[in-house]
Amino acid sequence: MCSIVIILVVIAVLGHFQSVTGAENCTIHAKGNSKFPDNFSFGVATSAYQIEGAWNADGKGPSIWDEYTHKHPDRIKDKSNGDIAAESYHHFDLDLKALKDLKVDHYRFSIAWTRIFPNGCVSSRNQKGIDYYNSVINKLLENGIEPMVTMYHWDLPAELQKFGGFTNSLIVEQFLMYADELFESFGDRVKTWITFNEPNQVCKFGYGTGSVAPMVELPGVGDYLCYTNLLKAHGATYRLYRSKFFEKQQGKIGITLDSIYGVSKTNNNVDVDRAMQYTLGLLAHPIFSKSGGFPPLLVKDVQKNSFAEGRKKSRLPNLDEYWKALIRGSADFLGINYYTSKYVKRSTDLMGESPSMARDYNVEETFDPKWLVAKSEWLHCYPEGLEGLLKFIRDEYDNVEVKITENGWSDEGELVDENRVLYFKSHIQAVLNAIHDGSNISSYSAWSLVDNFEWNKGYTEKFGLYSVNMKSHKKERIPKKSAHYYRKVIETRTIPNEDFV
Ligand SMILES: *[C@@H]1O[C@H](CO)[C@@H](O)[C@H](O)[C@H]1NC(C)=O
Ligand SMILES: *[C@@H]1O[C@H](CO)[C@@H](O)[C@H](O)[C@H]1NC(C)=O
Repeated sequence: MCSIVIILVVIAVLGHFQSVTGAENCTIHAKGNSKFPDNFSFGVATSAYQIEGAWNADGKGPSIWDEYTHKHPDRIKDKSNGDIAAESYHHFDLDLKALKDLKVDHYRFSIAWTRIFPNGCVSSRNQKGIDYYNSVINKLLENGIEPMVTMYHWDLPAELQKFGGFTNSLIVEQFLMYADELFESFGDRVKTWITFNEPNQVCKFGYGTGSVAPMVELPGVGDYLCYTNLLKAHGATYRLYRSKFFEKQQGKIGITLDSIYGVSKTNNNVDVDRAMQYTLGLLAHPIFSKSGGFPPLLVKDVQKNSFAEGRKKSRLPNLDEYWKALIRGSADFLGINYYTSKYVKRSTDLMGESPSMARDYNVEETFDPKWLVAKSEWLHCYPEGLEGLLKFIRDEYDNVEVKITENGWSDEGELVDENRVLYFKSHIQAVLNAIHDGSNISSYSAWSLVDNFEWNKGYTEKFGLYSVNMKSHKKERIPKKSAHYYRKVIETRTIPNEDFV
């Protein structure tokens, strides 16, 4: 008892200490509106591998993340994996209770491909996996919570990686068969679909630097192949939905892109545009621009570097007219995962190795030491960046409908998570400011419902609104201060003061 009190005091003191180092910069001025529109949807987001556990239960096959964490535990900071995690597969009722307590309008979760088709192929169809997601979807709807479903959140069936995964164009057909099954099985009730989550992470780190699953180290080559095949799979899935399912199901389908906002210390718009084209534009230009195809700037850079390396053609695959047309306009909305911003400056030296995306991009990225930093070293609080990103999208992509599909803050897992509250307060304000300025934003999903497996960082960086008692087989969910704060946002549709309690 005594030690618990001491720990709480220490946590409170540490929390207070953190909140005075940079916290004063984790704020933003409010523009005109004080309230979100009635049709604005608030929710939270999770992903299958990060919370479900039950990695081989009921016929589930191994994904590239199961293989990677089992074969290379040394690659994960605490040598952990997602085998058990928050065990949502067995304890969805706990998640449901948390969702109800938060009073969310929607819940964004992902479906594990390896529960539906354990080896990736339609012939391995697993009814128990389908039953699980039917039960999740039905329970959400019974409680007035709209399901928002991500079809792919990084957990490729391991069997498909044997064919090269996203570097092989076979993936397009494989993904289409998986998508067809999802629309067929769940599309009568699911009306918001997200094909892919964060292609930048999937491609740049999975098939470029090789720093995460499936550890393919082909910088400047494998990454661009992955982007190209992923875009084709996305576009083809959209066309499948519109031609075969839309008439009956009337849902919307989009893609979720992760992006920083690039800030120039010297107001150099050319540098900012370069940063945005390489992070957001690489995927957004082919889908949401009027002309389609990869951003012209990038096409030029990669071609120039490829020729200089002695190649006969560009490392960036050509999207021919057929694919360009198929991909252009292939989304009803743009999902955005925003966490942080960076200062960007075109480098005078050559960046990265040759070849690599870093070399093609050739931009120095730095942080402002004044920005409050999270437990994740890459995550700094800069709410103006979210407003800047939303303005960029408004101007560049004809004010397409935007869903903020992730936004959140990491720490040690303390229950009095003052900095997470500050982060949510300032970033939700940034969204409201963008709506005031004319952005067409229809929803916001906080990342994340519960503390979960944070990829290479294991369980050392916590993003949850709820803490999970990992020592107990019951895996109780415990609300943090940020959960109470977010519930207040949802109830009032306004941005309460952080000292609301
Ligand atoms: C916002 O997007 C929705 C859905 O795409 C569209 O119906 C609506 O007209 C858009 N609103 C504005 C103000 O552009
Ligand atoms: C929400 O309602 C407003 C006002 O009626 C409308 O302009 C906007 O397009 C709607 N947003 C969406 C995403 O439907």
